[in-house]
Amino acid sequence: MSDSGSVEPFESVERSEGGPSAVEPSAGAPREVVARKPRPGDEEQLSIEGFDESGRGLARHKQCTWSVLRARPGAVVRVKALRRRRDEVEAVALETLERDGRAVAAVCRHFGPCGGCALQDLAYAEQLVGKRALIEQSFARHGALPAGVCVEPVLGAARTERYRNKMEFTFGNRRWIAPDEPQGAPDAFAVGLHAAGLWQKVIDIQGCSIQPEVGDAILALAREIALRRGLEPWDVRTHQGLLRHLVVRVSGSTGEVLVNLVAAREEPERLGPFIRELLERVPAISTFVQTINSRAAAVSSGEREILHHGPGWIRELLLGVEFRVSAQSFFQTNSAQAARLFELVLAEATPRGDELCWDLYCGTGTIALLLARRARAVVGFELVASAVEDARENAARNGLSNARFVEGDVLATTRLEHERPDVVVVDPPRAGLHKDLLAPLAACGARRIVYVACKHGSVARDAALLAPLGWRVARVQPVDLFPHTPHVECVATFERVAGAV
Ligand SMILES: C[S@@+](CC[C@H](N)C(=O)[O-])C[C@H]1O[C@@H](n2cnc3c(N)ncnc32)[C@H](O)[C@@H]1O
Repeated sequence: MSDSGSVEPFESVERSEGGPSAVEPSAGAPREVVARKPRPGDEEQLSIEGFDESGRGLARHKQCTWSVLRARPGAVVRVKALRRRRDEVEAVALETLERDGRAVAAVCRHFGPCGGCALQDLAYAEQLVGKRALIEQSFARHGALPAGVCVEPVLGAARTERYRNKMEFTFGNRRWIAPDEPQGAPDAFAVGLHAAGLWQKVIDIQGCSIQPEVGDAILALAREIALRRGLEPWDVRTHQGLLRHLVVRVSGSTGEVLVNLVAAREEPERLGPFIRELLERVPAISTFVQTINSRAAAVSSGEREILHHGPGWIRELLLGVEFRVSAQSFFQTNSAQAARLFELVLAEATPRGDELCWDLYCGTGTIALLLARRARAVVGFELVASAVEDARENAARNGLSNARFVEGDVLATTRLEHERPDVVVVDPPRAGLHKDLLAPLAACGARRIVYVACKHGSVARDAALLAPLGWRVARVQPVDLFPHTPHVECVATFERVAGAV
């Protein structure tokens, strides 16, 4: 095998008008030799060097980038090509021929078929190395890092198991069957996570190693009670059935537990006893809501919510500020690492007591309220009305009267502000900043922009677009909120180039 990046010796064909058949070149003419590009079905041996954004192993071979399902960095694998688009080949590992010290045993019994944690069999330190490399590649692709600035090593999590404060399970009537299960094993009911690449199949999860133990207990009991009471799971093909999703949120700081049962209908005579039994058997559940979603879309939001128990929300404490988190609120899913992320944002924003800060795409006001304790005033901008309501409630609960929240599209609402901000924090959705926001943002008069990104490709692209508008990246610091997955948050700090308007 060659090293990554080098070109393998390959079967060669001479370039000719009529296709791949060899044409004798005329005497003395140079022979142009080109690689036969890989084709579906080709089997090759590859050295895996990294992983891609979906957690597949990456290798360079025959002048193509290979993205290999079920292959880990450090391994030598025999693969079969599945499809090729230009110079990118998708392949599946057939056999691992060699492994190195980067491979570890996966903790979870569902690892592999489960679409949840793609990297569990890679040592955590190597996961962080790979995530940093992905971010470096994104910035390099866009030419977005100025000389002397590098992507910092990823701030890893102290806790890599049981770290998620929210899990969303699916009920389904097409259980994923493991290859070693006997013929005819029951498959008409499952509650768990989608099988990797098979959105209609649900793995009947018997324990999820990234959620707290209480979540496992709730999941197991929900399955047992639903089966005993004959409550039918949703069928994604026919759009029939009752039970759709089970969402469990466990506060990382207070331990309060919220359960959201998403059902196609209210059906109190059948769901009432189910909910009561679950509540009796898990006293740790502090609040229980039922969401009605009768539409075809497989989402955990719906037309209306029925409160069955408790206040309808749980409390999270982050860096001394208390947040109300309800069933539909956005809240970072790793509480411990969210605290580190926001500490970093505060350190980069460096708000002074006499300054005005803006928090664009503020959600329920998490960053805005943390900034409010250090700044003269903060304005948060958010599209979703219920998130704005939560943000205002959170401000009141914490006595932060210097934070104001504006509902609407940031493109429109920021234009209506009269006072210019000193510092701007942006935390947009995965698509990044709207292209029409870049120019007004660049010209808003702030001395700093701190960009929190859940997709590094987006922040790298936006950095390249902000550069000609007078803003340079001063620091890129990734923070890992999602151990065992290829996802990573990234904080990029932008400063105004001296002399730029
Ligand atoms: C990644 S979340 C940020 C949440 C928040 N910073 C936090 O940590 O809780 C992105 C937010 O942007 C909001 N959003 C999306 N498009 C928007 C737009 N055009 N204008 C304002 N807010 C928008 C979404 O509703 C969502 O709350």
